[in-house]
Amino acid sequence: MPQAHLRVWRGGDDGEYREYDVEYSEGMVVLDVLHLLQATAAPDMAVRWNCKAGKCGSCSAEVNGKPRLMCMTRMQLFDPYETIAIAPLKTFPLIRDLVTDVSHNYAVANGMPEFAPGPPAPDGDYRMQQIDIDRMQEFHKCIECFLCQDVCHVIRDHSDNLPNFAGPRFFVQLAQVSMHPLDEHAKGDTVSAGFGLDYCNITKCCTDVCPEGIHITDNAIIPLKERAIDERFDPIRALGRRLFGRGDGRSH
Ligand code: SF4
Ligand code: SF4
Ligand code: FES
Repeated sequence: MPQAHLRVWRGGDDGEYREYDVEYSEGMVVLDVLHLLQATAAPDMAVRWNCKAGKCGSCSAEVNGKPRLMCMTRMQLFDPYETIAIAPLKTFPLIRDLVTDVSHNYAVANGMPEFAPGPPAPDGDYRMQQIDIDRMQEFHKCIECFLCQDVCHVIRDHSDNLPNFAGPRFFVQLAQVSMHPLDEHAKGDTVSAGFGLDYCNITKCCTDVCPEGIHITDNAIIPLKERAIDERFDPIRALGRRLFGRGDGRSH
């Protein structure tokens, strides 16, 4: 059987990496190997997981420095004698071992604008073009693993930005509302209202780690930034704001 050499973070902020050798079977993923470790040398090791199918977003960690879902990271990715370092997400407070407190993200989620459709057509139906449905579909794939939040330097290196920067996962959610053809929010509510879009300098690191392959920067952040610029600098909107105290109000 192949043997993995692991360096796993153990303890809280003042913890340390501990080294373990674990025999595993062909075809296993990193989470399987951690479960073997829990069943043998480290029964008290804290690891969060749920679906083991890449769909619940619970098993996020940093494997050899890269944010990944551990249940979707195959052992065959690594060289046979490579040391595999497994660390908790850096951006969020550490609870213990590989488990972090991601509740900050739930607080941000509570402040997101909800989808607000206008009235239906006279026949009672809502209608959308297929092209709009296709565009929305990508944003709906988010599994809230928060890997994109973890890798984003705006909050990873500057926790003081957390209150002012919603982060890439929530820019996806803003785009979902802002670009929905039936949503009736004023555009300013979804692109400018304190979500910190300006902090993002489009490094695309969030897109690189998204396990759902969402084009976070190209399809969510950049269109939102373009809309924010329209909102602020479009002379027609500026005139509207001066005359009526608002822009044209539409979000798409
Ligand atoms: S593109 Fe923007 S949101 Fe994404 S990681 Fe870079 S700075 Fe953060
Ligand atoms: S956008 Fe991608 S990386 Fe970010 S939370 Fe959703 S699935 Fe995870
Ligand atoms: S255990 Fe659900 S995504 Fe990994």
